[in-house]
Amino acid sequence: MKKCSIAVLVALAFAVAALMGTAAIAQDTKSGKVADSFKIKDPLFKDSKKSAVEFTHLKHSVDHKLACTECHHVFKDGKNVFKDGDKVQKCSACHTSPKKNQGKVLSLYNAFHKNCRDCHKAAKKGPQKCNECHPK
Ligand code: HEC
Ligand code: HEC
Ligand code: HEC
Ligand code: HEC
Repeated sequence: MKKCSIAVLVALAFAVAALMGTAAIAQDTKSGKVADSFKIKDPLFKDSKKSAVEFTHLKHSVDHKLACTECHHVFKDGKNVFKDGDKVQKCSACHTSPKKNQGKVLSLYNAFHKNCRDCHKAAKKGPQKCNECHPK
C-alpha cells in the first residue's frame, strides 16, 4: 500500500514536471525554440532601474498574428531580409549601446521602445504607459 502511493506520487511529480516543461518551451519555430512567455531584462542595462518586462512571445506571433519580421531582422542594403529559419540573435547582439544611438543602429533602449511601444501606440492596443510594461 505505502509503496504503491509513493509510486503514484513519483509518477504525478513526473507528469507535472513534463507539463511545466512544455508550458515553458512550446513554441518550436524554424529558427529554434523559444519560451511562450518570458521576462526581458538585458544585462547590457548595467544600472537597470526598472522592473523586467513581461513578453508573450507565443501570443504575439500566433494570437496577435504578427510576422517574425515585425521584430526580428537582418538588414542588407537597408532592407530586412530575415526569413523564418534564420538564426535569431538577442537584440543586444547588434544594438550594443545601452542608451546612445550609433548612427542608424538605435541604442538598445530605443530599439525596444520603438519596437514594442510604437506598435502598441499605433495599434491603440497593448501596454503603452511606462508602468504597464514596467510595474516598478
Ligand atoms: C511596451 C512596453 C514598454 C513601455 C510602454 C515602456 N517600456 Fe521601457 N522598456 C521596455 C523593454 C522591453 C525594455 C528592455 C528591458 C530590459 O532589458 O531590462 C525597456 C527598458 C527600459 C529602461 C532601461 C532598463 C532599466 O531597467 O533601466 C528604462 C529606463 C525604461 N525602459 C524606461 C521606460 C519609461 C520611463 C517608459 C515610459 C515613458 C517606458 N520605459 C515605457 C518596454 C517598455
Ligand atoms: C512582437 C515581436 C516578436 C515577434 C512577432 C516574434 N518574435 Fe521572436 N523574439 C522577440 C523578442 C523580444 C525576443 C527576445 C530577444 C532578446 O532577449 O533580446 C525573441 C526571441 C526569439 C527567439 C529566441 C532567441 C534566443 O537567443 O533565445 C527565437 C528562436 C525567436 N524569437 C524566433 C521567432 C520566430 C521564428 C518568429 C516568427 C514565427 C518570432 N520569433 C516572432 C520578439 C518577437
Ligand atoms: C543582426 C543584428 C540585429 C539584431 C539581432 C537586431 N537588430 Fe534591430 N537593427 C539592426 C540594424 C543594423 C538596424 C538599422 C537598419 C537600417 O536602418 O539600416 C536596426 C534597426 C532597428 C530598429 C529601427 C528600424 C525599425 O525596424 O523600426 C528597431 C526598432 C530595432 N532595430 C529593434 C530591434 C529589436 C527589438 C531587436 C530584437 C528583437 C533587434 N532590433 C535585433 C540590427 C539588428
Ligand atoms: C508589431 C506590433 C507589436 C509589437 C512589435 C509588440 N507588440 Fe505587444 N501587443 C501587440 C498587440 C496587437 C497586442 C494585443 C493587444 C490586445 O489585443 O489587447 C499586444 C499585447 C501585449 C501585451 C499584453 C499581453 C498580450 O499578449 O496580449 C504585452 C505585455 C505586450 N504586448 C508586450 C510587448 C513587448 C514587451 C514588446 C516588445 C518586446 C511588444 N509587446 C511588441 C502588438 C505588438
